[in-house]
Amino acid sequence: MLYQIKQYIKFILKSTNQHGVHSPFVFNLVTQCFYDKKRYDAYKSIRNYRKYLLNSNTKIEVTDLGAGSQVMKQQTRTVSSMAKNAGTTFKRAKLLYRLANYLECENILELGTSLGMATQSMSLANPKANITTIEGCPNISEFTKGAFKKQSLENIDLITGDFDEIIESLAPKTFDLIFFDGNHQKEATLQYFESLMETAHNNSVFIFDDIYWSQSMTEAWETIKEHPKVTVTIDTFFWGFVFFRKEQTKEHFTIRA
Ligand SMILES: C[S@@+](CC[C@H](N)C(=O)[O-])C[C@H]1O[C@@H](n2cnc3c(N)ncnc32)[C@H](O)[C@@H]1O
Repeated sequence: MLYQIKQYIKFILKSTNQHGVHSPFVFNLVTQCFYDKKRYDAYKSIRNYRKYLLNSNTKIEVTDLGAGSQVMKQQTRTVSSMAKNAGTTFKRAKLLYRLANYLECENILELGTSLGMATQSMSLANPKANITTIEGCPNISEFTKGAFKKQSLENIDLITGDFDEIIESLAPKTFDLIFFDGNHQKEATLQYFESLMETAHNNSVFIFDDIYWSQSMTEAWETIKEHPKVTVTIDTFFWGFVFFRKEQTKEHFTIRA
């Protein structure tokens, strides 16, 4: 926690808004997507699903596969506590919705479905998109599949299993957006990044959650930034965005989103 506070102070001192951003691609992304204040109809569905989860006392026997939660250690968890402590926030779910829309993402992959708070927002952004999302805990997976069915979110393929095995078995294709939101450990993050690199095309975006969760996650983020195929990166503190656009010179931005 102390590590995160120190890093947040550094972030605040270093970060900017769109001013001084000379790259037209990043300037447009920040002004037209990050800072887009329109109230989209889908935000109501995003809010309603959150409310439903935050009020649910359903208990789930959880199999912990990742670095685990820093808040909850017990094996049986209520849906409401999972939504509160490990779920994508409302602000970020809305940003993900706008991003999937703005970048016209059609093929999306998410590592770490949990209760599907992020998956739902990406599904609403483009009902024609194909969303593959992976969750290792069978009981969470079952709950979330039911929730997607109730909302008639038919463009989601929730696969139950360990990231390593499922990534290997994915049919060869490219993804427009990959959201890395599970297993917050350095080696695992770098391994998923390397193995999914071949699925990236010129306009793909990779989003890494919680790059300041721990010192080793920040080390993973720094290694990712240096990868020769990575051109633009945007550090928004809670998420790290990675782009591969060959027409851009390599540049790292630190922006308040
Ligand atoms: C932080 S939660 C994901 C939150 C979710 N994306 C959301 O929008 O609310 C991370 C999830 O990843 C799953 N997970 C962690 N490591 C995994 C692994 N190695 N294989 C499969 N699932 C894993 C956990 O079970 C957990 O449900």
